[in-house]
Amino acid sequence: MSHSIGVIAGDGIGPEVVAEALKVVRAAGVPVETVDYELGAARYLRDGEVLSDETLESLRGHDAILLGAVGGPVGSRDVPRGLIERGLLLRLRFELDLYVNLRPFTAPGLDFVVVRENTEGSYAGEGGFLRKGTPHEIATQGSVNTRRGVERCIRFAFDLAQSRQRRHLTLVHKTNVLTFAGDLWQRAFDAVAADHPDVTTSYSHVDAACIHLVESPDRYDVIVTDNLFGDILTDLAGAVAGGIGLAASANLNPDRTGPSLFEPVHGSAPDIAGTGRANPLAAIRSAALMLDFLGETDAAARITKAVTDAASQSGTTSELGDAVAGRL
Ligand code: IPM
Ligand code: MN
Repeated sequence: MSHSIGVIAGDGIGPEVVAEALKVVRAAGVPVETVDYELGAARYLRDGEVLSDETLESLRGHDAILLGAVGGPVGSRDVPRGLIERGLLLRLRFELDLYVNLRPFTAPGLDFVVVRENTEGSYAGEGGFLRKGTPHEIATQGSVNTRRGVERCIRFAFDLAQSRQRRHLTLVHKTNVLTFAGDLWQRAFDAVAADHPDVTTSYSHVDAACIHLVESPDRYDVIVTDNLFGDILTDLAGAVAGGIGLAASANLNPDRTGPSLFEPVHGSAPDIAGTGRANPLAAIRSAALMLDFLGETDAAARITKAVTDAASQSGTTSELGDAVAGRL
């Protein structure tokens, strides 16, 4: 059976790395039909579309979505700050209910996964201005934590930990300062833990987790954390695990009420776009996560292994793609 993939190659290095990811998927022998969606900063500048309702409905019809990177150069005055992030990427996460952002990190001697809550927290967009532009202006930016939203993410993390060899789950938060949200997270964590007696648990404050990730990452197996903490922590984890050019992510709707979205953690890197210097391995690994979620577990495992074997190789974007494809 062929899988229907909506492809948002996006801006900057997005199209280059997505081309290599699809090359590898095909080399693995997985039948896919792709539909390209031209979305991102360049599209917005051309005709003003960020993500129309029609495009969203069309994307909803696919089995999965593969995204390269979206966004123009930082400080570009033609694209309002946050417009593409909020109007496209976050809108897709919210509308498709992609409530888990799964980010695995593997490198020699290192193997852990971050389960980042992906639809709430400070990303929910609660807040606003009062007296904007005056000397007395006020800006608030809330963090939204629903019992349902937190619990379903934690449940996913426990189930994942249960399926892994070490069966260890760490809650990362800042419960000593964020005493309302932290309390809710801790109580939800403890409640779900009661259903998973085989999983051992621990807790780290997010600042301490930053030290641990650098000094002793092997203490972690699965981490579950809030949206913003997860965003920051996974950039750090990427740097620790061999560089952001290797970090993959899966924005999952575990209930499968719609397609899930797979994307490298890195951005559009406009400074190196078109130079052949973009590392396609993060996008290739993201495609492997996609195949795994689509049930193509054998192909996913073969790609993941081929990436590991090719990771020490150097070369241009397409040479690295060829190196992985050639190993399949
Ligand atoms: C990520 C990115 C996004 C985020 C941005 C582009 C909105 O940094 O996927 O980690 O903050 O979630
Ligand atoms: Mn990020």
